[in-house]
Amino acid sequence: MASREIVPEHYQAFRAFLEQSCGIVLGDNKQYLVSSRLGHLMEREGIKDLGELVYHVQQRGGQRLRGMVIEAMTTNETQWFRDTYPFTILQDTLLPEYVKRGQQQLRIWSAACSSGQEVYSLSIALEEYRARGARLEAEIVGTDISPAMVAQAKEAKYSASTINRGLSPERRDRYFQRSGDSWVVRPEIRRRGQFMVHNLLESYASLGRFDIIFCRNVLIYFSATSRENILNRMIQQMRPGGYLIVGASESLARHTGDLQMIRSHGGVIYKLRER
Ligand SMILES: C[S@@+](CC[C@H](N)C(=O)[O-])C[C@H]1O[C@@H](n2cnc3c(N)ncnc32)[C@H](O)[C@@H]1O
Repeated sequence: MASREIVPEHYQAFRAFLEQSCGIVLGDNKQYLVSSRLGHLMEREGIKDLGELVYHVQQRGGQRLRGMVIEAMTTNETQWFRDTYPFTILQDTLLPEYVKRGQQQLRIWSAACSSGQEVYSLSIALEEYRARGARLEAEIVGTDISPAMVAQAKEAKYSASTINRGLSPERRDRYFQRSGDSWVVRPEIRRRGQFMVHNLLESYASLGRFDIIFCRNVLIYFSATSRENILNRMIQQMRPGGYLIVGASESLARHTGDLQMIRSHGGVIYKLRER
């Protein structure tokens, strides 16, 4: 399907479907992106144009196709210790603060965790902090809309090219085991990770409450309304005095009533104000 073959009505219908099902907003002129991401899938499924695709995904039995379309349209780009500062702040400020408060068990949510690098980076950061003598443990819940990403995160096995993106050789050798050409997260790091498929547009009630929420590099794809709705609902899931960390390019100017902005280590994080 070449982008010039997408008629405006079909493009509009597809945009509406995508936003409604996973929050992603496509710009006015992203037909090329749709063509490049869905071309093969449509060919394989014998679907002649975008209009027909929208028709099928909206049918009762369209679940499988719907999943594949969302999978194809999401960007799963991630890396170890992405942006560095959130993990440094965690080790230098947040974890010591919890120890000082006398808390021994944390719950951390990595929302939109992709293939798990963020969850395991958090677990490594905690492991390193514990090596300084602290008695603090955490359950780290990773969620993503993509079943394929969640399966990869659970498997905890990374190719030679993926392992080097953001990870020092020292951390790699200490926290991963070689398995053929791949690297597997060691059990002491892996045991803290729990993964599940979850759509950020749906309820958070079953996830429970969290001390720290990482929600990075996903809100940029959503509308201002969805972003606000998601953030308001995340705030409801935060324990008193909890922290929220968003992506380096995602600012929360409109939520300063509930959240206090903290600048540290060249980045920004947010702390839930006492109510
Ligand atoms: C660019 S990755 C970010 C991964 C990680 N948070 C990071 O910063 O490196 C975005 C992830 O958001 C997920 N995603 C997109 N829409 C979602 C939704 N509605 N609910 C949950 N996850 C979603 C995608 O599947 C993808 O894995």
